[in-house]
Amino acid sequence: MSRSPDHPINSMFFERWSPRSFTGEAIPDAVLQSAFEAARWAPSAMNAQPWRFLLARPGDEHWQTFIDVMMPRNRLWAAKASALVVILSERQLDRRDERVDNHSHSFDAGAAWANFAHQALLLGWHTHGIGGFDNDAARERLAVPDDFAIEAMIALGRQGGIEALHADFHVGEAPNGRRPLAETVFAGTLDVSAFAEEEEAA
Ligand SMILES: Cc1cc2nc3c(=O)[nH]c(=O)nc-3n(C[C@H](O)[C@H](O)[C@H](O)COP(=O)(O)O)c2cc1C
Repeated sequence: MSRSPDHPINSMFFERWSPRSFTGEAIPDAVLQSAFEAARWAPSAMNAQPWRFLLARPGDEHWQTFIDVMMPRNRLWAAKASALVVILSERQLDRRDERVDNHSHSFDAGAAWANFAHQALLLGWHTHGIGGFDNDAARERLAVPDDFAIEAMIALGRQGGIEALHADFHVGEAPNGRRPLAETVFAGTLDVSAFAEEEEAA
């Protein structure tokens, strides 16, 4: 499926997609720095910047741990990425003299990940979010303190050809679509009948 937006937007928003075939080539430090820099400028509640990123590159001392904590199916393709990132978010923030719960720590880390993904794309690199990993194992093996949530992992690489990808994933290796705005944006209150109609049609 080729993507075409229903309304005018910058092309980076529909050109970003999540391939599973990666070339495995080395990623320049400058690309990583730019992607993390874009993430750094994301908005966050009280400018708390709850995001933190753990980075591994093929062959370094952390790479195998990052691969090990993934669900086996994700390992089949993500092992050919040029970098893997674990996204953390700090659950609390400082307000006046107090440590208080930050209700938007995950939301804000999501904004940072989107910046990261789009900046990487602008430099010719693709990202693929990964939620399929063992959160407890990641916490233990990467020594993540309890006051940080482990949100997701990211595989980052140059898109490879279909021949470089495990056969199980060939069918899904194409940009997907999106629900229309009419079923996404509501005047004031959520129109649950829109979902009922969807279910009837299914
Ligand atoms: C937080 C998060 C977790 C995801 N987890 C996985 C995963 O474990 N395995 C996988 O193959 N894709 C995973 N994806 C990729 C999504 O399936 C993909 O982003 C979605 O289908 C939209 O497609 P697009 O990114 O190509 O636009 C994840 C994406 C996100 C943002």
